[in-house]
Amino acid sequence: MDDRFTDQVAIVTGGARGIGEAVARRLASEGAVVVLFDRLADEVNEAAYRMSADGMPVESMAVDITDEDSVKTSIAEVVAQHGKLDVMVNCAGIVGPNNTKITEYETTAFDEIYAVNLRGSFLMTKFAIEPMLAQDYGRILLYASIGGKEGNPGMVGYAATKAGVFGLVKGVGKEYAETGVTVNGIAPAVIRTPMVDAADPEMVKYMTDRIPMKRTGSLEEAAAMSAFIVSRENSFSTGYVFDLSGGRATY
Ligand SMILES: NC(=O)c1ccc[n+]([C@@H]2O[C@H](COP(=O)([O-])OP(=O)(O)OC[C@H]3O[C@@H](n4cnc5c(N)ncnc54)[C@H](O)[C@@H]3O)[C@@H](O)[C@H]2O)c1
Repeated sequence: MDDRFTDQVAIVTGGARGIGEAVARRLASEGAVVVLFDRLADEVNEAAYRMSADGMPVESMAVDITDEDSVKTSIAEVVAQHGKLDVMVNCAGIVGPNNTKITEYETTAFDEIYAVNLRGSFLMTKFAIEPMLAQDYGRILLYASIGGKEGNPGMVGYAATKAGVFGLVKGVGKEYAETGVTVNGIAPAVIRTPMVDAADPEMVKYMTDRIPMKRTGSLEEAAAMSAFIVSRENSFSTGYVFDLSGGRATY
C-alpha cells in the first residue's frame, strides 16, 4: 500500500502548508513526483525543501491559481519537464470574511473568494485535464467543504463558492466519465490547519460542535482519504464529492 503512485506525476495546489502540504507529502511518500503550486513563493519553496530533505521528490512553483496564464503555462511546464500529468489535487483556497452577515460582506471580498475558490478550481481543472485525456488516465481532486453543502452562516462567500465546487465536480466528472480520467471532490468539516487557526474562534466552535465525533479532523486523515481518491484503485467513482466530516454529513 505504500507505492500506489510510483512513476506518477502529481500537482498539488496550496502545497505550501496545511492540507496541501500533507497531501503532497503522502503522495510523494508513496512514490509520486510532486510539484507544489502556491502563491506564497518563499513558503512553497520551503515546503518542497522540507520534503526533499526527507527524501521525497518534490518540486515547487510560485503559481496564483486565479491567474489563467500562469495556471496554463505552469501546468504545461510540468508536463514538458516530466512528460505527463497523472494527478491534480486542488487544495488552494481561502476562507474570506467570517462571522460576517451578507449586509456587511464587502462585494470585493466576494469577488476575491470567488476568484480563488471557484474560478481557480475551474482553471486548474480545465488545464490539468488536457494532458490526462491525452494519456487516457488521470485523477483530479478538488477541495470543497461541508460549508458548501450545508452553508455555514457568517461565511456566505465561502459557502457559495464551495457549493460551486460541488457543481464543477459533478458536471466535469460526467463530461469525462467514459475516459480514464476521474474528477472528484472532498468535503471536509474542520481540519486543524493554519486556515482554521486564523478563523474566528466562535466560528470554529460552531463548526466543531456540529461534528458528532466532537473533534477536528487531522491532516493525516485528510491526506489518507485524498490519496485513496486519486489512486488508481479508486476507479469506479467520478463526479462525486467524498465526505470527511466526523459524521456531520448524512447525505
Ligand atoms: N482546514 C479546514 O478545516 C478545511 C475544511 C474544509 C475545507 N477546507 C479546504 O481545504 C483546502 C486547504 O485548506 P487549508 O486548511 O490547508 O488552508 P491553508 O490556508 O492552510 O492553506 C491554503 C493554501 O492555499 C494557498 N493559496 C490561497 N490562495 C491561492 C491562490 N490564489 N493561488 C495559489 N495558492 C493559493 C495559500 O497560500 C495556502 O498555502 C482549502 O480549499 C479549504 O477551503 C479546509
